Amino acid sequence: MSEERLEKKKTIELRKKHVGPSCKIFFSHDPIKIVRAKGQYMYDEKGQRYLDCINNVAHVGHCHPDVVKAGAEQMEQLNTNSRFLHDNLVLYAQRLQATLPDKLSVCYFVNSGSEANDLALRLAWQYTGHKDVITLDNAYHGHVSSLIDISPYKFHQLSGVEKNQSVHVAPSPDVYRGKYRVDHPDPATAYADEVQEMIHKVQEKGGKIAAFIAESLQSCGGQVIPPAGYYQQVAEHVRKAGGVFIADEVQVGFGRVGTHFWAFQLQGEDFVPDIVTMGKPIGNGHPMSCVVTTKEVAEAFMQTGMEYFNTFGGNPVSCAIGLAVLDVIVKEDLQGNALRVGRYLTNLLEKQKEKHPLVGDIRGRGLFVGVELVKDRLKLTPATAEAQEVIYKLKEQHILLSADGPHRNVLKFKPPLCFSTEDADLAVGHIDNILTELEVALGLTLHNTLNVENENSKRKLPTEENGHQYPSELAHSNGSSQGVPQQTKQTKQAKRLKT
Ligand SMILES: Cc1ncc(COP(=O)(O)O)c(C=O)c1O
Repeated sequence: MSEERLEKKKTIELRKKHVGPSCKIFFSHDPIKIVRAKGQYMYDEKGQRYLDCINNVAHVGHCHPDVVKAGAEQMEQLNTNSRFLHDNLVLYAQRLQATLPDKLSVCYFVNSGSEANDLALRLAWQYTGHKDVITLDNAYHGHVSSLIDISPYKFHQLSGVEKNQSVHVAPSPDVYRGKYRVDHPDPATAYADEVQEMIHKVQEKGGKIAAFIAESLQSCGGQVIPPAGYYQQVAEHVRKAGGVFIADEVQVGFGRVGTHFWAFQLQGEDFVPDIVTMGKPIGNGHPMSCVVTTKEVAEAFMQTGMEYFNTFGGNPVSCAIGLAVLDVIVKEDLQGNALRVGRYLTNLLEKQKEKHPLVGDIRGRGLFVGVELVKDRLKLTPATAEAQEVIYKLKEQHILLSADGPHRNVLKFKPPLCFSTEDADLAVGHIDNILTELEVALGLTLHNTLNVENENSKRKLPTEENGHQYPSELAHSNGSSQGVPQQTKQTKQAKRLKT
């Protein structure tokens, strides 16, 4: 069977005609048509292989045979809704729970990250009887109305639309570019104090806190790693105000961070959210998701008297797939691979930082890594066009990476967990060449940027981050900047390109 049903030109034509224009496509001026995929590789209609550095949905590898088989076999036998007893549902709930702290014991199966977060808000509102929600700046939690309201990443793009009055935006705990940085003696407490102050202000105006919601590590917000201890303090403030803590693990869960199965566990054993939401990787591409909470929250939700019914959530096929994903993670030690390859990748990228003035910061855990590009290490001027240029040049080399964050200058690595050290070498080798070319064009050299080395990059690095010893930082001096480099034709061109 031909892998292509239509010529690429026809596919583009029909898409333009029949698919909503706000559904964006990667590399819109020269989109990629993918016809098959395996592991961490995707193939276009001509058989060209692309290395996938961004798809955290294909968590255990694209089209993993065990997952495909589990889904197909169950589909041959039965698919129906959760109003009938079925072993897959209860076995999956039990297996998922075993990965979590005991307290988080009740599951609701839904179909997308958005559905999971929307239900999490309903649970919080019902359990607390309160309405106000605190979210983090630059956060993204989903595409339905209730979640656009708590997603500054999205609602900042809207002009003239009034913000929901019961939503409150706390600063993102970004220690590189945020309000409190690595040179602060205790950024975790400083950021948590901001939340506490916000709670007091809400209460003074008669509001009542229902929930604080955050990704355990912020993804669209720019691969932000919150300082250790931040969430414990926030949870304490929020619970004191009668609210609950919702951890969004839609992007970062299921072993991606390497040292732990869930990214919230990076904060320490003493931190247990009240509600955890899961999505993307849970079904390796099959649309399914889950909300896990405590017995107390679930019982309060029951008190509404309203049945919770979800046509597709928890169907036998989804649960068979979910079980297969968990099996593969264990069988192939993918959490261990995330740790090992994540370390290797982060090490390679740290070397790029020593070499390239455009690299301002490397941060990550396991196979969740961000590379923040800046034009000036003192002013932290975002190298947005340059980041887009890197993405485009990588695409020419058949490597797929994306750039995100409020300035779209953070290169995001979040590949399938079967990503290898060879893949890391390939991607970083090309990034090295592209950055060298860009810096020549911009007249940026490490020599002249030593003078603009940012105070904030004098990171008091933990001796162990991402499980490995970081190399020492660049030397610092206090000279003045050589000025903001002129944009090259290349970077001006990159600005026009959208990924
Ligand atoms: C952190 C986070 N939460 C929730 C969602 C929404 O998930 P979905 O697109 O499956 O509705 C996303 C999607 O990108 C996300 O990144």
